[in-house]
Amino acid sequence: MLITKTIDDFKNARKDLNGTIGFVPTMGALHKGHLNLIQRAKEENDHVIVSIFVNPTQFLEGEDLEKYPKKEVADKEICKLAGVDILFMPTSDAMYEGDELKIIAPKIRGYVLDGHNRPGHFDGMLQIVMKLLNLTNADMAYFGKKDAQQLSLISQMVKNYFLKTVIVPCDIVRDIDGLALSSRNIYLTKEERTNALSIPSALQKASQMIIAGERNTENIKNSMIDILNKNVNNIDYVEIVNRDFKNINEIEIKNTIILVAAKVGQTRLIDNLWV
Ligand code: PAF
Repeated sequence: MLITKTIDDFKNARKDLNGTIGFVPTMGALHKGHLNLIQRAKEENDHVIVSIFVNPTQFLEGEDLEKYPKKEVADKEICKLAGVDILFMPTSDAMYEGDELKIIAPKIRGYVLDGHNRPGHFDGMLQIVMKLLNLTNADMAYFGKKDAQQLSLISQMVKNYFLKTVIVPCDIVRDIDGLALSSRNIYLTKEERTNALSIPSALQKASQMIIAGERNTENIKNSMIDILNKNVNNIDYVEIVNRDFKNINEIEIKNTIILVAAKVGQTRLIDNLWV
């Protein structure tokens, strides 16, 4: 596995890869969810590129940019063992030159839910993903469904800018207790982690209600909020939207996403269910 840090070194390493490229962009602190993306990329392509870059432009003032978990040694080992061809770990200076062109997320999909709670977050996220897709010239890029809105915006960017990369949505990977894997889970104390389990429980409740025939989204949201209120100190949102991220009153089977964002202690967690 080649580890590259500068743009020139990356481009040189990339030149030597022939065949199809699967790309997994990450911010490091890799867990089984990332490994799942890497393994899928490996199965479906001749070569795999992983990037690790904690992208400053997608963090808002006062968010956890400085303390975002870093596990460089373990991350390198995971990538090596998973058979990654190039691990790209650029510095901020390599990726950004200052006064740059910006990408602005679309009004609805980019500024509701997480876009509303974290205004500008998706602009910065799209900016870095655009740079990475262009640099890697990947055939396929792999993203988790846990970041449903991110995934949807990236798919829209690829479509709107006629990029060649195929975006591959990958299922959420959960811990044995049901908590969706996230690099930020590391921030949770033991007690907070127990409380955080109300998030998958609320989603499970929604799933049970739908299986039992409930279609009214208000009823489902209210039941979820009841479960969450007992354990989380701050619900950012519980929303039920269609795949275009528009609110819906009735569940549309195969076209609905049920989303939760909540703070447990100081840690903001997101999770969702695709129906
Ligand atoms: O999901 C993430 O880890 C990041 O948002 C991404 C896609 C790597 C862009 O920085």
